[in-house]
Amino acid sequence: MTALTTALAAPQVLERCRALVRPALEETVGRLHPWVGEMAGYAFGWCEAGGVPAAGSGGKGVRQALAVLGAEAAGAPGRAGVPAAVAVELVHTFSLLHDDIMDGDAARRGRPTVWKAYGTGPAVLAGDALFALAVETLAASPKGPEALRLLSAALGDLVRGQADDLLLAARPWTGPHRVRPGEYRATAEHKTGALLGCAAALGALLGGAPPAVVAALDRAGRHLGIAFQVVDDVLAIWGDPAVTGKPVLGDLRERKKTLPVLAALDGPSPAAGRLATLLESDADPAHVVTLIEEAGGRTAALAEARRHLAAVETALAGVPLEPAPEGELRSLLDFLVRRDL
Ligand code: IPE
Ligand code: MG
Ligand code: MG
Repeated sequence: MTALTTALAAPQVLERCRALVRPALEETVGRLHPWVGEMAGYAFGWCEAGGVPAAGSGGKGVRQALAVLGAEAAGAPGRAGVPAAVAVELVHTFSLLHDDIMDGDAARRGRPTVWKAYGTGPAVLAGDALFALAVETLAASPKGPEALRLLSAALGDLVRGQADDLLLAARPWTGPHRVRPGEYRATAEHKTGALLGCAAALGALLGGAPPAVVAALDRAGRHLGIAFQVVDDVLAIWGDPAVTGKPVLGDLRERKKTLPVLAALDGPSPAAGRLATLLESDADPAHVVTLIEEAGGRTAALAEARRHLAAVETALAGVPLEPAPEGELRSLLDFLVRRDL
């Protein structure tokens, strides 16, 4: 029987992993101060502001799935990856709480962001609390010190990526100080790829994988992160806000240096020049969108996403992995990068 016939399709993989991780995640969050725990529950989509239970499960749970599949790909049962899954979901949610404050975003997943619902100070505190829980969870895991080393390396990258993300937003679109696509790539790898890589690597580590497999899964996750971020940035311009749950053209309004715009400006199209003038004149973002597409920004960004997806494949092909979880991993990657495109 081949890997593809035994592997579940991506939505079922995500659901299976969420179901495996949820009891441990709830137990861990349940240790928090009740008010902080409520904010965390709200961020996870488990309750409304005020604590009334909600049916939602928050995000897709990509990071927890990568951790579980990382353990399984190493030949261990998925439950071996659960502490890794809990830790990366906590860190991810913590980073989103703080990111929404940094970006000044009022909505996420179609609901007010935590800082909008509870205030900035409380949201900072809830983020800190989730971070502390993640550290506690890994410290108590069978490979504590090594797991914490992987997590702190990813956190260092995440901070680096977030710092560059903020700095790039303040840079001009054109001229000698303009942002190059390579800077975007590095930022995306740091702010998004590092934690995805860490998720898969931590799962593999707890599943008893040798260092070469841990490193390969980290590399795969990093490339996935870049591809994922590119797709996210494409959807932020051309996606349906009802589906993305994010503010309409928020990235363009905040002058975020995302790849569709940078690639358009960098390209040979005559539309690139007109786009540059329009961007520097602070034109209405809605007017800018057509020109980005005309200058080839959307096509170039999607080609970049595909290149990184190919790099994920190369990283996975270089090490021995259990066929069924490897198949599930591949169907997940495909699903994530092709969503709504
Ligand atoms: C978020 O990046 C990355 C981290 C939280 C580290 P973005 O700011 O680009 O992502 P969204 O659009 O808010 O989800
Ligand atoms: Mg943001
Ligand atoms: Mg941000």
